[in-house]
Amino acid sequence: MTSTALAMRPTGIASIGLNLPPLAMSVEELAPLRGEDPKKYRLGLGCDSMSLCTPEYGVVELATEAARRALDRWSGDRDRIGMLAVGTETAFDMSRPLSAWVADKLGLSGAVRSYEVKHACYGGTLAVRQATEWRMSGAAGDQAALVIAADEALYEPGDPGEPTQGAGAVAMVIDEPEVATIDSVSYPWSEPQFDFWRPVGESYPRVDGPLSLDCYRRAAENCFKALVGTKNPEQVLSELAAICFHVPFPKMVKKAVVRVGEFFSWDAERIERFFLEKVNPTMVWNRLCGNAYTASLWISVANALKGLSAGQRIAAFSYGSGFGAELLTLEAGPRAAAGDWASDIEADLSQRRSIDGATYSRSRE
Ligand code: CAA
Repeated sequence: MTSTALAMRPTGIASIGLNLPPLAMSVEELAPLRGEDPKKYRLGLGCDSMSLCTPEYGVVELATEAARRALDRWSGDRDRIGMLAVGTETAFDMSRPLSAWVADKLGLSGAVRSYEVKHACYGGTLAVRQATEWRMSGAAGDQAALVIAADEALYEPGDPGEPTQGAGAVAMVIDEPEVATIDSVSYPWSEPQFDFWRPVGESYPRVDGPLSLDCYRRAAENCFKALVGTKNPEQVLSELAAICFHVPFPKMVKKAVVRVGEFFSWDAERIERFFLEKVNPTMVWNRLCGNAYTASLWISVANALKGLSAGQRIAAFSYGSGFGAELLTLEAGPRAAAGDWASDIEADLSQRRSIDGATYSRSRE
């Protein structure tokens, strides 16, 4: 196949694998520890439970298991993997990429470009874009990419963001778009801000909550404005089967949807209907695992693609503090309807152990 033909072929998600860690805690267990009303967490933030890692099962195990599941489902040959890109902000080392730890466990080495992508919660999307563009450019030849978004999101005990904690990993093989085509055009927006950051040597993030909310809403407004362009927003957005967002916590997504709707001069009733129909259903798994940083958006995308007919389209809004954001559009492929990756989440949710507040407190000492 000529390089031009290689470059022209559609590219996207050929296979998906997801993984959640072995522990979970309901936000109802956290509330009394922090002297808060549980309704603040459930209704005020929209949180249900948080995934929690253990000393034996952390970000490398999450990433590796999600990758194993994606590779097992992929119809291709592992020898065709020519790129391993791991998006994460749960780094072990300021030099050695997390991809090296994962590649070691997967037995991936040789003619493979292996690297880590860091940009807070946006790193997984950047890895997806880089892999997609690598293949679309023809530079990939006949190779495929393994992209992983994996994180463990922990705040300082007592931090107001603590109820939004979580963990998880999503792995995707970027190759023939059997699950979904990723459109070549996307819509970025970035501004240098200190909304959420974690200085080297510090275990927990520093967060300017109100600023991070304002940045997130402004980024969403500008990305959707670019997507709609001069077209009718009602028509552009109603044609999408689902609209996925990076989910720091569900209420934050709702606030961004309100901002986007107001930008398009929709009334409150139209905005509510749009949120309930296109956005809220995509967050079912996010509510059960909490914020998984780079993996959050792709957990939502995996949920939204499940069950779609080939040709149906979705949008995916990625946000990473600091900040960088990008809006992508995807088109379901022939394997979306089966949504076989849902069994990963179902298995992990059914097998994980729920802990109480006392156990959680001891684990955070
Ligand atoms: N019943 C029902 N609702 C209640 C309630 C009750 N008893 N008590 C309070 N609430 C509601 C409040 O009305 C409020 O709702 P609205 O926002 O709709 O008004 C909500 O609960 C939160 O209440 P507060 O604002 O008082 O909560 P807080 O001051 O403790 O702040 C927080 C909590 C909103 C999570 C804040 O800490 C915050 O914004 N944190 C950071 C936000 C964040 O995660 N940003 C993204 C960075 S992480 C990420 O994903 C990006 C990345 O790249 C890493």
